[in-house]
Amino acid sequence: MYTQNCIQCDAKYTPEEILYTCPKCSGLLEIIYDWSGQSISRKDFEGIPLSLWKYKALLPVEREPVTTNEGGTPLYKCERLGESFGTGTFYVKHEGLNPTGSFKDRGMTVGVSKALELGMKTVACASTGNTSASLAIYGAKAGIPVVVLLPAGKVAMGKVAQAIMHGAKVLSIKGNFDDALKLVRDLCDNEGFYLLNSINPYRLEGQKTIAFEIVDQLGWEVPDRVVLPVGNAGNITAIYKGFKEFYELGLTDKIPKMTGIQAEGACPVVNAFKQRLNDIVPVSNPETVATAIRIGDPVNAIKALRAIYQSGGLAESVSDEEIIAAQKDLARIEGIGVEPASASSVAGFRKLFGMGIIEPGETVVCVTTGHLLKDPEEVLSICESPIEVEATAESVRKAVFS
Ligand code: F0G
Repeated sequence: MYTQNCIQCDAKYTPEEILYTCPKCSGLLEIIYDWSGQSISRKDFEGIPLSLWKYKALLPVEREPVTTNEGGTPLYKCERLGESFGTGTFYVKHEGLNPTGSFKDRGMTVGVSKALELGMKTVACASTGNTSASLAIYGAKAGIPVVVLLPAGKVAMGKVAQAIMHGAKVLSIKGNFDDALKLVRDLCDNEGFYLLNSINPYRLEGQKTIAFEIVDQLGWEVPDRVVLPVGNAGNITAIYKGFKEFYELGLTDKIPKMTGIQAEGACPVVNAFKQRLNDIVPVSNPETVATAIRIGDPVNAIKALRAIYQSGGLAESVSDEEIIAAQKDLARIEGIGVEPASASSVAGFRKLFGMGIIEPGETVVCVTTGHLLKDPEEVLSICESPIEVEATAESVRKAVFS
């Protein structure tokens, strides 16, 4: 049993109501479960291979899910990179290894399953790219139309390729992500399309499984800190909720410090955190190489700030240069290929350790949210070009040893 609860005025709504914010006070909604009378123990999860639907008992979906085997992503131990930072070993949870190459698949397998359960006929979203790619495949699998609104010229090529190949109707909006989100919310309200941005509380339920998997992979240990990129601020909220639920169910004994990283050119959550505010002042012209998190007015900011304050975490910004350096180091030292937004988690970890804010000995998990192949153009612009040589053994040898 669960309800949709307003985080602001605590109004409760039934699971069937199609809502994205509270009709009474416009507050954000979250799914709250009543697990009393049910006994959920560690044993229920033992011996089952890692995957998102391993946690079906803790998810708000009754029907057979629309799934393409999401979750079960690796938790890598980064010894060499950790040593080069001076921090010692840390972990990377590589969400880029989900079916479409980002963590969005966790939200969409739950969100699209819920859309069918609620009888919705069309699904829609605004996106900096990954959300649209993910919604496109789950819509295809479910056999329902998908409409996506993208900020023109600011979406990485791999993501657009996925959205169009999987058959979504792709609109390129002459504006930024924040404009696209306002437009799609209006479209959904007026046309009865189901909105699957992270303002949808059901979508975030899928993403909370990142927390469950981290605990599972660490043998029921909870890390001291989880570091991740923040854009529209849904994922930090979702992962915090996952850790909180395991704690409240008595399965774990603590909650990690949620540590959100934004790019310097798009950091309203960091600005709010540094002034100890409970809400943000939007940034009007966000800009960063990390296009996935090029967002000035994150819809889940209030929830994200609560997650940060309640967990004793923090928010910090990193420059595009720091993001690119972390992206290259992950690729070249650990063999982990990520897109720029994802590398911001590791860049933030390095910076915070350098500042003495993250302490030696902390168990830290950085979440890398999207795959390297999402944004090949950025890679080509920051790496050496291939060396052109004549097709002779001598020229090849010369080039190899030059
Ligand atoms: N990392 C990547 C690779 C993303 O695509 C996003 C968000 C984030 C981090 C930030 O997550 O919004 O939950 O704080 N991408 C959205 C999209 C906005 O449309 O694909 P968040």
